[in-house]
Amino acid sequence: MAHMQAASAENIRRDIENLNQFNATPGDGITRILFTDQELKAREYIKKRMEETGLEVKEDAIGNIFGTLKGSKPNLAPVWTGSHIDTVPHAGSFDGMTGVVGGLEALRIIKESGNTHSRNIQVIVFTSEEPTRFGKGCLGSRALAGDLTQGETTGLSDETGMTLAQVLDRLGYDKKQFPDIKKERGDVHGCVELHIEQGAVLENIGKKTGVVTAISAPTDLIIEVEGTQEHAGATPMPMRKDAMTAAARMILKIEELARTSDNPSTVATVGKLDIFPGATNVIPGKVRFTVDMRSDSFEEKEQILHKIQKNAEALVEIEGVRISVSIVSHEHPASADKHIVDVIRDVCQRQNKEYNVMVSGAYHDSMFVSRFAPFSMIFVPSRGGISHHKDEWTDYEDIASGVDVLAETLLIMSNEEVKQK
Ligand code: GLV
Ligand code: MN
Ligand code: MN
Repeated sequence: MAHMQAASAENIRRDIENLNQFNATPGDGITRILFTDQELKAREYIKKRMEETGLEVKEDAIGNIFGTLKGSKPNLAPVWTGSHIDTVPHAGSFDGMTGVVGGLEALRIIKESGNTHSRNIQVIVFTSEEPTRFGKGCLGSRALAGDLTQGETTGLSDETGMTLAQVLDRLGYDKKQFPDIKKERGDVHGCVELHIEQGAVLENIGKKTGVVTAISAPTDLIIEVEGTQEHAGATPMPMRKDAMTAAARMILKIEELARTSDNPSTVATVGKLDIFPGATNVIPGKVRFTVDMRSDSFEEKEQILHKIQKNAEALVEIEGVRISVSIVSHEHPASADKHIVDVIRDVCQRQNKEYNVMVSGAYHDSMFVSRFAPFSMIFVPSRGGISHHKDEWTDYEDIASGVDVLAETLLIMSNEEVKQK
């Protein structure tokens, strides 16, 4: 085992608490949305902490931040870790931040251990893993994978109608450098992201470490139902084309399709619903809602998507409404690299840590990193499995334990001479 001091739970606590002062909803969870005042301040905080840790700091044209610990052979492909600092609305303190702050602490103990390492090791803040502002998640890692071009940033807009391209431009990111973001296979030796589990499996089995072998992938839809906006008192029931009741039928059908699947990783959620005009005494003329469907089987998502479309066609016939189903994203599940999984397992054994090999139901930036580099993830337990909620909690000692595994894994990978596939 490499000689390394133990990760400091106190350092991790301090950084997470400091970061979470940048919050748009104090007292009601953490809300830090991409490129808002709070998020920009959190970026500055992390850059400052990277510098204090002795890392070289760079940012690319979509705002992915790279903190580099130089190795003795900096021309070799680097080893990556990292996660995100943006949140869903009214979130907890740990989703994403654990992997950024934990990555920083891992690089600190590697550096201070005095162990030599060949490859550069980089901790990355990926831009906007959450889809909160622009409706699409993993913007930074998506661009790294070449799945978000500069042209496409002009087609993504927030609730105020501002496009991602405009926001980036306003903040001074150079759109001419956008094509340089993309990584090719071979550019990165391997990536290990530390994250909270966001489920209750580790807690239930009493283990502190999860080793991730695959990431279940989302398919995100926006469904718009158009009926006829009319008077709620004067329009008899048989004469209505109520967009809301047609939407409700669709939503229940979507729930049934996921609930009756034999695959336990298959889930579907309608988390956002807009009703127009939204008044007590007006029959809704239009309803727009989101669908977030996930599975570790791309084929099954295809089948469910087809059934949703068929259901929409049937409702158009029966209810006389119009329905459009737009696909916002339709991602492929990602398989972790067997070699990296083995390295993490070996490290856990050497550190006498019981671990659980598992599939991630939540998605992560690693899902897009998998398109150009081998990856795995390390999970630490979430109390009660609660996440995307202000009560999200992970003990700082458990994060520090995950950082110990992460640091040794990164050190081993950074001394691997052989190129990973
Ligand atoms: C990521 O936050 C997800 O929704 O899985
Ligand atoms: Mn999240
Ligand atoms: Mn996350």
